Amino acid sequence: MGVFREDALQGKVAFVTGGGSGICRGIAEAFMRHGADTAIVGRKMERLEQTARELSEATGRRCLPVSADVREPEAVEAALDTTLAELGGIDVVVNGAAGNFLSPAAALSYKGFRTVLEIDTLGTYNVSKAAFAKVLGRKGGAIINISATLHYTGMALQVHAGSAKAANDAMTRHLAVEWGAANIRVNAIAPGPIGDTEGMRRLAPGGFAEKLAKSVPLRRLGTIQDIADAAVFLASDAASFVTGAILVVDGGSWLTAGGLSPMG
Ligand code: HXC
Ligand code: NAP
Repeated sequence: MGVFREDALQGKVAFVTGGGSGICRGIAEAFMRHGADTAIVGRKMERLEQTARELSEATGRRCLPVSADVREPEAVEAALDTTLAELGGIDVVVNGAAGNFLSPAAALSYKGFRTVLEIDTLGTYNVSKAAFAKVLGRKGGAIINISATLHYTGMALQVHAGSAKAANDAMTRHLAVEWGAANIRVNAIAPGPIGDTEGMRRLAPGGFAEKLAKSVPLRRLGTIQDIADAAVFLASDAASFVTGAILVVDGGSWLTAGGLSPMG
């Protein structure tokens, strides 16, 4: 049983990049449980189709699987067109697609650094810009960027992801200012360490997750539901005067994580 009214997002349509798996799958499901039809976007169509079937069965709402690489503006535009044609509009955009791995800065190839910036930062810009041109600029709506907290403390082995998310935080504020007059709210969620996700499997090998969990002021890892609830709030009318905000949902983790490193 959720804590929000079941019709909190009734009649809305959401476009969720990264919605085929992990945190953004959880966000898509939560949106659907609160009344929104939802497109989920990623590169792997087979996984998207399976996720869409499962979420539709679980919620009774429409879930549209759409394949696109967020690094390719034409593919992004086509995905938005398909969603507009199939679901009849777009009110909420979630930029969750991201790529990450642990690497020492000195060992990272030039292309490795660039790839993460291209997925996380250019991808977020591509989707936001195209969604503005195609629908949000005329009708208003909400954009939610999925950020992180690792750039607050400069976590080791994460210069690529931290640089990308820092740029996304700046983009969140710039677009909130520029697009406020079009009635578009632009916010971000900064998750802390979230259990049972690809992100944690990649970034917290060898007992680092347990070490992190002990250091979190609320003494646990986050759940996908924790992030999904924050996304429902930011997408809903309860947040109608909230824009340019970066909502940290981390149990207080970043306040105490400064000295911790996956390097051991
Ligand atoms: C060092 C690596 C690497 C690794 C890839 N590269 N993996 N370098 N260590 N483990 C380098 C490659 O060597 C290559 O450079 C360049 O990155 C591009 O690699 P490709 O495999 O060609 O890229 P691509 O197929 O586009 O895949 C992108 C990807 C991949 C990011 C590398 O892992 C991916 O698709 N990830 C999506 C899922 C994901 O990462 N989920 C976790 C999100 S969690 P060279 O020069 O060798 O050709 C997250 C958490 C944030 O973001 C904060 C948590 C606290
Ligand atoms: P995940 O399951 O791997 O989610 C990433 C998603 O992005 C995948 O569904 C992937 O689908 C999609 N994607 C990757 N590259 C893409 C591309 N070029 N074009 C389109 N889609 C692409 O990881 P997660 O751990 O749930 O992370 C989700 C979000 O939360 C990310 O933004 C991440 O940075 C953020 N975050 C996570 C944590 C954590 O603890 N897990 C903490 C802080 C922030 P395809 O492979 O099908 O393309």
